[in-house]
Amino acid sequence: METQQIIIDTDPGQDDAVAILLALASPELQVLGLTCVAGNVALNLTTLNARKICELAGRADIPVYGGCDRPMGRALITAEHVHGHSGMDGPDLPLPDMPLQPVHAVGFLIDTLRSAPPKTITLCPLGPLTNIATAFARAPDIVTRVRQIVLMGGSHFKAGNVTPAAEFNIHVDPDAAAMVFASGVALTVVPLDVTHKALVTPARNAAFNAIGTAVGRAVAQLTAFADRYDSTKYGAPGAPLHDPCVIAWLLAPHLFSGRQINVEIETSSELTMGMTVADWWGVTDRSANALFLGDVDAEALFNLMTERLARL
Ligand code: RIB
Ligand code: CA
Repeated sequence: METQQIIIDTDPGQDDAVAILLALASPELQVLGLTCVAGNVALNLTTLNARKICELAGRADIPVYGGCDRPMGRALITAEHVHGHSGMDGPDLPLPDMPLQPVHAVGFLIDTLRSAPPKTITLCPLGPLTNIATAFARAPDIVTRVRQIVLMGGSHFKAGNVTPAAEFNIHVDPDAAAMVFASGVALTVVPLDVTHKALVTPARNAAFNAIGTAVGRAVAQLTAFADRYDSTKYGAPGAPLHDPCVIAWLLAPHLFSGRQINVEIETSSELTMGMTVADWWGVTDRSANALFLGDVDAEALFNLMTERLARL
């Protein structure tokens, strides 16, 4: 089996936490490190939550780096109303013993991409794209060394979740997103169009809990907490599980479908700031820059996640 080396850029976040656990449970993936960014909550909490999750998985060996504490050109917008004040309400996880790495996340991204053979590392951003774009701006030479970027963000048919037009990760740092989408790196986008089909129904949440381990119980608590907000907001039979879809695509891309299209980012209009303008119907002559996913086999997705999480 070919092991894919990945760096997860993250703002945990209950769904980030499940994505990290899924990656750590999957032997196809070698997690080189977690680079944390301000997003769902402030940076001091996303770095704390990332280390709590690594220790829950028994993986205190995974290096965790603190990154950018605010977007490139705008004030930080957080989402405590969705994730709770800790940013990862739900399970009561102990404070971590593992330290935060002394190197800044942007420096880690640059150094790691420069020292690794070209096109061998996949970046998996699960939050605002501030760390990635800052690394690209500071060290343009690393852009062509990235194997691919698989990110959770954006929306087309599902509109926005933080404004009527924009999804949270892109809206928080639209300038960073515009840089990443224009970088020329092979890009797979996991938008709300897909994640709103990955709903944590009561049966799926029960299946997480039935794993019967500390990880299973924690994942059930993590996904139940997110449900209290999202399912009432969307009137759906469960909350969308966003970030794990990024890892699941790496593990089982056949469960997903999408189109290679042009996607641009709105960075001028305050009304639609951070909107992903996806040319799904090919009505422009703008060149394709992303595989924009549109569908997922949700039952198979949750079966995969439950089977993998049971391994931790
Ligand atoms: O819009 C959903 C995204 O915003 C997810 O990554 C969630 O964790 C938040 O960061
Ligand atoms: Ca996230």
